[in-house]
Amino acid sequence: MTETNLINMKSELEDEERAFSSFGVFNIKHEYTEKEDTAVNSVEVNGRKFVFTEKLTFKDGVLKKRLIKRFAKLAVYKAISETCGKSLPWGSLTGVRPTKLAYTLLSERGEFTDYFKNVLSVSEKKTDLTAAVIESQKGIYEENCDGSDFFVFIPFCPSRCAYCSFISHDLKFAYKYEDAYVDALVKEIEYSARYVKKLRSIYVGGGTPVAIKNENLEKILSAIGKINCGAEFTVEAGRPDAIRKDNLDILKAHGVTRICVNPQTFSDKTLKIIGRNHTAEDIFRAYDLARNDFSVNMDIIAGLPEERFSDFENTLNTALSLSPDDITVHTLCLKRGSALMEKGSGAVVGETRKMVDFAEETLVKNGYFPYYLYRQKYMSDNLENVGYCKKDKRCVFNIDTMEEICSTVACGAFAVNKRVFNGGDRIERYGNPKDVKTYLNNFSQVSEKKDALFCE
Ligand SMILES: C[S@@+](CC[C@H](N)C(=O)[O-])C[C@H]1O[C@@H](n2cnc3c(N)ncnc32)[C@H](O)[C@@H]1O
Ligand code: SF4
Repeated sequence: MTETNLINMKSELEDEERAFSSFGVFNIKHEYTEKEDTAVNSVEVNGRKFVFTEKLTFKDGVLKKRLIKRFAKLAVYKAISETCGKSLPWGSLTGVRPTKLAYTLLSERGEFTDYFKNVLSVSEKKTDLTAAVIESQKGIYEENCDGSDFFVFIPFCPSRCAYCSFISHDLKFAYKYEDAYVDALVKEIEYSARYVKKLRSIYVGGGTPVAIKNENLEKILSAIGKINCGAEFTVEAGRPDAIRKDNLDILKAHGVTRICVNPQTFSDKTLKIIGRNHTAEDIFRAYDLARNDFSVNMDIIAGLPEERFSDFENTLNTALSLSPDDITVHTLCLKRGSALMEKGSGAVVGETRKMVDFAEETLVKNGYFPYYLYRQKYMSDNLENVGYCKKDKRCVFNIDTMEEICSTVACGAFAVNKRVFNGGDRIERYGNPKDVKTYLNNFSQVSEKKDALFCE
């Protein structure tokens, strides 16, 4: 439990407490005061008292508020860390985008590595990882990007995986909404073409976009085709059991350049536990169908139920032996809404960090570069998700989305439109209705909100 007199920071300080939850239960009382130009954070953890003081180098405004926030989080982090004798790989950082913070520090102070290590208590390993990602983004990362990405969401899957909390519906039950959804989506795509400026990339995500009927896939890709002018074009095909020659032929005919064939793991035993409804053999088959016509990404997950280091090692080595263009290494992250969360993760405690370290070392040794990075709440061992790719195979959409450097025009239920002003000085968003039924009946509201976001 966390108490604080900084009411607007309660949830961020609770994130610090949650980050240590595998090491015990912590009762935290935090009080912030200021003495002249010094921030004073008094923290009590399970009755033990700490006081931390830091100079406030900015006197007022947004920069001062930002410093107060950082120092308060750091104080709570240090107090819990001293109490339980444990440190975390990302130190006091709890946010989703460590690289975005690093870019901000670079522009404010000309460097970020000392600040990460000495002020935010980020480990040397994760500071180096952040630096490597920033290095890989050169040439795509733009400080004043005035282009846009185009995102389309398909919220249907062949079945629900046990770890998943994304909004997506099992087609066995939701098939009756598919045709109406596709018609509404095509209407929104056609209307939204007017907002696209200097198209940088297209991403059709899910869910499992190739799980829908071929005629529906054709309709959606034809509508997108009116916007496309040869940009990077990804379809997150995803589940190997939904990938067939006939739907890949449709993707190819519509100019798709990149697809995802996602193993998650090559262990048949784990695939069964997580309810993927496919085998390792299906992954090989799907990859064989795709490899000559598309750039291929593979998603894998570290920390899956009952998996030991040797299972993950086998998954990574098998993925590497297939030589896809990208391998994205996720860390298991269980949220409410996933079946596994309800019945207990089954993750083997302490193995995930070893898996993620092994992935980084092995992928880099084999010529892959870490090129985008993000974190989420509730990640196993407080780690991160990292996309690794071969030289010249970076996905523009992934970089743009993580770094929030340019606008996203988004279509479909659950899709979030984002307008980025002046390279990120200000960001405004409009989230389409999340629920499919609500989305189907709200075209006029969606179009009005999008007009207001992109046209003013
Ligand atoms: C939005 S999902 C869509 C991909 C596609 N439906 C599939 O499952 O192959 C994108 C990726 O997020 C990752 N993911 C989804 N749920 C996760 C979870 N609870 N923890 C860690 N990674 C997760 C998986 O690696 C997945 O491939
Ligand atoms: S992980 Fe992918 S296939 Fe599985 S339920 Fe989630 S979105 Fe659907």
